[in-house]
Amino acid sequence: MLIKRGAEAELRRTEFLGRPAVDKVRVPKSYRLTELDDGLRRSRIRIEARLMAEARAAGVPVPIIYDIDLVEAKIVMEYVSGPTLKEVLDRRGSAGLEVAREMGRVIGRLHRAGIVHGDLTTSNMLWRDGRIVMIDFSLGGKDRGREARGVDLHLLREGLVSAHARATAYYREVVRGYREVMGPEADGVIATVKEIESRGRYT
Ligand SMILES: Nc1ncnc2c1ncn2[C@@H]1O[C@H](COP(=O)(O)OP(=O)(O)OP(=O)(O)O)[C@@H](O)[C@H]1O
Ligand SMILES: [Mg+2]
Repeated sequence: MLIKRGAEAELRRTEFLGRPAVDKVRVPKSYRLTELDDGLRRSRIRIEARLMAEARAAGVPVPIIYDIDLVEAKIVMEYVSGPTLKEVLDRRGSAGLEVAREMGRVIGRLHRAGIVHGDLTTSNMLWRDGRIVMIDFSLGGKDRGREARGVDLHLLREGLVSAHARATAYYREVVRGYREVMGPEADGVIATVKEIESRGRYT
């Protein structure tokens, strides 16, 4: 059963040894030379799987990886049943503030482990048993710099503003949660987010 067919990846609901699972396949690009394309898809899926493993080791819930197939550029992972954070925030109103704070803590744990996500949106986070499960590390990487971290938070903030009426309050909570985990190191990152936003206004 198809879950999503995007420009980069196709996701299907499936089973792995009797467990509910999701197949994520990086789709071939016909405009690229086949060999080059195969290489890129494989390396991208391998990076995605590695970042998921590192995120888990850093205490960030992610789907369990059941299998990885480099020839098909495919990851088979645990199916996480639960709404996206976008849906949770839409439903909760002001009770979403606590969820937003938890979002900040989870991002802090990722950053503290040297991981940047690259596509932080409330659609790339699922909600299960009162916890956030982070998905879609396909644009992620390893970076401890405040610029990369700032870009991560900036993208999240922009996504909140375009999707949620309470964006300002949510973002404030995200920053609180982030500070709890990152400590004084958070200051430089938050300052960078503001810098990125003022750059946007004048260029
Ligand atoms: N493990 C999972 N369990 C349940 N649903 C999932 C899982 N992984 C992905 N999904 C669903 O599929 C959607 C798309 O997944 P994902 O974000 O990984 O792909 P994408 O945005 O197309 O990826 P990419 O950015 O790599 O092109 C998610 O928003 C989510 O609704
Ligand atoms: Mg996604």
